[in-house]
Amino acid sequence: MRPLTVIANWKMNGSLASNASWVKSVCRGMEQGMPAGRKYAVCVPSPYLAQCGQLIEDYSPAFLSLGAQDVSMYAAGAYTGEVAAAMLKELGCSFVIVGHSERRQYHRETDEHVAEKALQVLDNGMTPVICVGESADERNSGREVEVVRGQISKQVAVLQDRLADCLIAYEPIWAIGTGKVASADLAQDMHRAIRLQLAEFDEDVASHVGILYGGSVKPDNAVELFAMPDIDGGLIGGASLNPQDFLAICQA
Ligand code: PGA
Repeated sequence: MRPLTVIANWKMNGSLASNASWVKSVCRGMEQGMPAGRKYAVCVPSPYLAQCGQLIEDYSPAFLSLGAQDVSMYAAGAYTGEVAAAMLKELGCSFVIVGHSERRQYHRETDEHVAEKALQVLDNGMTPVICVGESADERNSGREVEVVRGQISKQVAVLQDRLADCLIAYEPIWAIGTGKVASADLAQDMHRAIRLQLAEFDEDVASHVGILYGGSVKPDNAVELFAMPDIDGGLIGGASLNPQDFLAICQA
């Protein structure tokens, strides 16, 4: 059985003071009891990794893991401004988001970059959370499955069997930060399509890989989404900024 994984993505939000109160509230809430067999993580901006790692360690390392939102595709060297996977590992990260649509859109990341980043994450003993998803135009013109298949096939080509150690996050771009959540059936259809595509490569990989849904997940739609057979959890943006909402989603 694939564990349900719920990951907060703070994006470019936070401050030393608000981070401290978020981690405290979430860890205290989790100590009250969480459903068994689930994984939880928070992906924070790089400058806050050390702070949040220490806070998590102080409060409740058993429940919450630390994650990053991006990583360099290079191991080390003259790449000003970049952060290497080994550095994220050293700071205690377990998860690293790669290929978020905001990186693809604003920083021109391609599927090839995303796959190289995922390799760096795997080589450093962490779990890449590989984001895929179609735009509104692509869905409106009926090309959503083709687009997502294209994104996945590049990952399969590079990562091969190592995909079994990755998470995939299906995040339709039209649902991110818009409040327009994909219906549970629509999301399930795409998750199923992704799993079938992975099974064309290797059935074992397909059955192991966790596929998370992301895009306007809130406490009131998480239960229905997470109940779907091919939805193995969520990547939560806006709603994760509020500790009570994030806890409610974790319990869904
Ligand atoms: P959202 O973002 O929950 O604010 O829609 C999700 C994401 O981009 O990971």
